[in-house]
Amino acid sequence: MSDQLLERGGQLTLDIDPDRLLRRVADLARIGADPVTGGITREGFSTADREARAYLMAQARAAGLAPSVDAAGNIVVRAPGCGEAGDRQVLMMGSHLDTVVNGGRLDGAYGVLAALEVLQTLAHAGLDTVCEPVAVAFANEEGALFPQPFWGSMAVAGRLASLPREPTDHHGRPLREALQLAGGDLDALGSACWQAGSIAAYLELHVEQGPVLERSGSRIGVVEAITGRTVLTLEVRGTAGHSGTSPMEGRSDAMAAAARVVLAAENLAADRQLCRVATVGRLDPHPNTPNTIAGTVRLTVDLRDTDVWRMAGAEQVLRRMLRQIERSTGTEIEVVAETRSDPVSADLRLRAEIERSADGLGLAHEVLPSGAGHDAQVVADLAPIGMIFVPSLGGISHVPEEDSRPEDLVAGARVLLRTAVRVARGTVL
Ligand code: GLV
Ligand code: MN
Ligand code: MN
Repeated sequence: MSDQLLERGGQLTLDIDPDRLLRRVADLARIGADPVTGGITREGFSTADREARAYLMAQARAAGLAPSVDAAGNIVVRAPGCGEAGDRQVLMMGSHLDTVVNGGRLDGAYGVLAALEVLQTLAHAGLDTVCEPVAVAFANEEGALFPQPFWGSMAVAGRLASLPREPTDHHGRPLREALQLAGGDLDALGSACWQAGSIAAYLELHVEQGPVLERSGSRIGVVEAITGRTVLTLEVRGTAGHSGTSPMEGRSDAMAAAARVVLAAENLAADRQLCRVATVGRLDPHPNTPNTIAGTVRLTVDLRDTDVWRMAGAEQVLRRMLRQIERSTGTEIEVVAETRSDPVSADLRLRAEIERSADGLGLAHEVLPSGAGHDAQVVADLAPIGMIFVPSLGGISHVPEEDSRPEDLVAGARVLLRTAVRVARGTVL
C-alpha cells in the first residue's frame, strides 16, 4: 500500500472495523461469565481460559492469520508466511485473556482483541512495513490460580529459569498438566524466550482500571511508568485440633497467625508507608470448618511501588515481621512462591507517538502512571514499550462492574492502529 493511500492530507485512511472489535469483546465476555453476578472467572490455564484461547485462535484463523502456541502457552498470531528464521524484527502488540476470580470483561481481553484487530487490518491492507506486526495473548498474567503472575511474558523475557521443578496451583495441582492442555510444554520453556533485539517495540492497549481519565475527561491515557509489584505466596503451618477442647495456651493456630500477616501487610503500607500499597487478597485456610483450629493457611501478599528500593525495603521488613509472627504464634511461615516485576518507564519516543496518534484523531489525552501491573513491564526487559489507556467507568476494575464506553474502546484501538503503522514502518524508533 502506498504512502498516498495511507496518509491523505496528513490523515490515515486505514481504519479498524469497530463492529468486529466490539462483537469479539462481547463474544469473549460470555466465556467464564457467572450468570448471576455477571463476573468473569477465567483463571489462567483453567477450562474457561482454554475456551477463550480457542476462541481467539479460531477468530485469527478465520481472518486468514496464523496463530501458534509457544511452550509457555502464549498465543502468538502472525500474518501468514511471516516469522521465518532471519526475518524482520517484530512490532509486538498484546495483553492477556485470563482474568481474576469474578473479574470484568475488559482487563486484558480488550488489549488482545484490539491487537488482533490491528494485525488483521494491517495484514489485509498489504501494508509494507519494516517490522512485522504480531499479536500476542500472554498466558496467566493475573496468577489467579497458578501463583506466577506474568507467567507468559516472563517466559518470553527468559525469566523463568529459576522456577521450582514442578510448579503447582493454589490447590497443589501440577502446572505441567494444565500447561499441556493449553498447548504448552513445561520442559521446553526456554524455547518461548525471544532474543534481545528481535522485538523492535511492544505496544499494549488496556483499560485504565482507575478514575484519572474519567475525572479529567481525557479519552486517552499515555502511560509514563508502570508500578513495580512483588507477590509472595505464603504457607502458614500450625497444628489443627478441636476448637472446644484445645486450651488457648499452647495452640499453634495457623488462622490467628495468618490474621497477623494480613495486618502486618496493611501496617507496612498504611502506617509505615514503606510501599505505596500492600494487599492480602487471597486466603485459603484448611480445613476451613467452624470447630477445628486451622492447621494450614495459604495466603498471598501483593506489594506495589514505583521505586525499586522501596519495594525491596518493604519486602525485607515484611519478612522480618513474618519471623516475629512465627515466634509469637508457634507456627511456621514459608514463602512457597515469589514473583517480582520492577517498575518500568515507557519509551519516550513511543509516548510521543501515542500522543501524536491521539491528536490526529482529535482525542484529548494525558500522561499518567499505571498502578496496575501489565505484561509490558516484563517485555520491557527486551524492548521499548508503550501503553495506551482508555477510561474505565467509575474507575473500577477486577470486579464484575468493570466497564468502558464502546466509543472509548474503539478510540483506543484506533490510536493503537495509528501508532502501530508508524512504528512498523520504521518512522518512530
Ligand atoms: C494485574 O492485573 C494487576 O494485578 O495489576
Ligand atoms: Mn488484572
Ligand atoms: Mn490486565
